[in-house]
Order: sequence, then C-alpha cells, then structure tokens
Amino acid sequence: MVRPVIELINRYDAGKFPKGESYIILSSNENPYPPAEDVLKAIERSIKKVTNRYPDPEYPELKRAIAEYLEVDVNEIFLGNGISDCIYNICNALLDTLDKVTIPMPSYTMYAMYSIVRDASINYRIYPYYKIDIEDFIESVRNSKLVFLCSPNNPTGNAIPIKRIKEIVESVRGYVALDEAYVEFSDASAIKLTDTYENLIVMRTFSKFFGLAGLRIGYGICKDERVVSALEKIRLPFCINYIGAIAGVEAIKCLDYYKKIRDIIVKERERVYRELSKFEEIEVFPSKANFLLVKSENLRLAEKLEKRKILVRDVTGLMGLSGEHVRITIGKPEENNALLNALEEILS
Ligand SMILES: Cc1ncc(COP(=O)(O)O)c(C=O)c1O
Repeated sequence: MVRPVIELINRYDAGKFPKGESYIILSSNENPYPPAEDVLKAIERSIKKVTNRYPDPEYPELKRAIAEYLEVDVNEIFLGNGISDCIYNICNALLDTLDKVTIPMPSYTMYAMYSIVRDASINYRIYPYYKIDIEDFIESVRNSKLVFLCSPNNPTGNAIPIKRIKEIVESVRGYVALDEAYVEFSDASAIKLTDTYENLIVMRTFSKFFGLAGLRIGYGICKDERVVSALEKIRLPFCINYIGAIAGVEAIKCLDYYKKIRDIIVKERERVYRELSKFEEIEVFPSKANFLLVKSENLRLAEKLEKRKILVRDVTGLMGLSGEHVRITIGKPEENNALLNALEEILS
C-alpha cells in the first residue's frame, strides 16, 4: 500500500509544455538564449560516446570546474540531478520522522514536498512577498533540524540580504539549506559564508544562468565533510548523465558568454519592470532573478495571455500569496515586447 502521507502530497506543478504550436514560453524561468557554441560542440562530441559508457561517478572534471568557478575546495562539493534532486537528498540525509523543518513562504514548493516525504514536521512561516521579519523568524527557527531559504526567492524575486542570512545561520542549531538557483542574476551570493558556518548548505544549478535546464545538473557546497560525504553517498551514482557532465565543464569555460547573456536579461528585467509598473490594473514587484511577480485582481491574466500564445505561470493559490498572481520569466527582447503588447490589449 502507498504510505498515507504520499497520498496527501500534490504532484509538483511544472507548468505547461505545449507541443507543436509556437508559443512564447515565459513560464519556467528558463534562459531564453542557446548554449555557447563551444558547449554545443562539446555536447555533439559527447553524444558519440554516450550510448555504451557510464560517466565517471565521481565526476572529477565537473567538480574541479565548479570548485574553480566558485573558488571553493573540491571536497566541499556534492552533486545532484538538478537542485530538485539536491533538495530530495538533503531531506533524506538529514531528516528523521517529526524533525522540525522551517520554511518561509511563499517559496519553492519542493522544500515542503520532500520534507513531507520524510514525515518531518513543517513549520511554515508566512511573510508577505517573502519579506522575512528577521526577529520573528529567528524566534521560530529554534530547534529546527533544517531551514530552507531561497534567495533570490521563487516566485517573489526578492533576495535575502547576506547579513540576514548570516544571522539566521548563526541562530539555527541544525542546518540551513539555501537555494541559490537564480543567484547569478543578482549581485550577491552567500557562498563565502560556508567558510565560516559548517551548518550552511548552498545549492546551485546549471539550469538558469547556464541555460542547461534540460541536462539536469545541480550541485551544492557545504564545509561540513560529514554532510558532503552523506550527500555524495546517497545520491544516485550516475545522477548526472554523460552529456551533462561534459556540458557543465564546457559551460564554465564559456563564462564570458553567459555573463553577457545575463547582462542582457537583467537589463530586460529592469525594462519590463518599468513598463509593467505603468499599468494601473496590476502590481509588479522588484526582482533580482530572471522573472517578475505580478499581482492582479480577477483578470485571469495567465489564461488571457495563453489565448494570445504567451505562457506565463499562474501562481495563484500558492501558500502565502493572497489574490491572483502570475510569474513572468524574462525572455528575449522581442518576446518581452510581445508580452507587453498583449498586456496592453488585455488591460486597455
Ligand atoms: C528556487 C528553485 N530552486 C530549484 C529549481 C529547480 O532547479 P533544477 O533545474 O536545478 O532542479 C527551481 C526551478 O524552477 C527553482 O525555482
């Protein structure tokens, strides 16, 4: 029989995946640009070897490349099939039944999902638009075995100041798992704090800034060698496929290309934010990520945009968000213009 707790969990809503018709997809916070030429070439070369050989399960080249990219020790790195898998492994490695997990909301739903799978006791703290009230939060995290933070946060887009992250990490006796999926679109990472705080686990991905969401490459950094060795032990031995391991290394070599793309996306984010702010019928929130959160009232924006072949994510109903909200990924300038024109039509 399936465990009753599993029956309680809602399946992860990954949004829509349209086939055939040409939609503008601004719903999954993907990078709208193609990989660097050298990454594509490396992928093509690796395809020739992919069918009969396993990847090296230690992924030495990928770990070395990540270590150089982030200026961390290679022994502080653990891997996963995307951050999603890292979250799952962290819950499996750290949580026993009824352990307390604290999750500020509204945020990414997988933290709760995998904590529930472990029968943990979840302490949700709701802060409007993820503006964490630090005193209240620090009071509430006591006795937590695990705290999940997301910065910049999905779906609100705001970042938690590093100083605040430090205060939280200092006041938690258990571990803080900080999700930095979107950090390269912002200006500050908390990676350096891992030097000082062994209870901080920072998770990162190749899915957003490096635009390799389809290859599923995630990783994390932690100074506590027991945690790293546990996460490396329980992950699937070949959690990153042959092509992903090669593409990840090559992507880091092409950092200049990705920084240029990032600069375009960030500039577009600011332009789209300014343009959206002009519509009186909606409210848009400042963001440090590659998406914007928009509040509306009974406008059914996601549905109306879909009719115009533009997909955004309807996040209405997410715990901690009251009222109708959509999350809009920043696309290429022409895609963003199409979005703005469609909204002009819908709202006028
Ligand atoms: C905050 C956050 N963390 C993690 C992920 C998943 O990342 P990955 O593709 O590395 O599994 C997402 C995906 O949208 C996300 O928004």
